[in-house]
Amino acid sequence: MINITFIQPDGRETTVEAKPGDSAMQVALNNNIDGIIAECGGSMACATCHVYVADDWLDRTGDRMDGEEDMLDCAMAEMKDSSRLSCQIKLTEAHDGLRLHIPEEQG
Ligand code: FES
Repeated sequence: MINITFIQPDGRETTVEAKPGDSAMQVALNNNIDGIIAECGGSMACATCHVYVADDWLDRTGDRMDGEEDMLDCAMAEMKDSSRLSCQIKLTEAHDGLRLHIPEEQG
């Protein structure tokens, strides 16, 4: 099992369980995490699943997908180096302990 922690702008943390193959966005929706709306259902067409990956996890979440950066440019919150669309983070056992911050504008 993979544990992922979502961190709200006010510092509230929620740790939930995920399965390999889930996207971080699906896990957030399944657990009613505030701030992840995922309007487009994961087809990289909305940016309402924007998260900031915790610094110490950046090298383990892989590179952005083709087109992901363009969509992040349209996100409500500022795009940073740590920005990802959570629908494009596919989880494996190596992500156990992953920490994702919800941008303030979505919280
Ligand atoms: Fe729409 Fe991720 S759910 S871009």
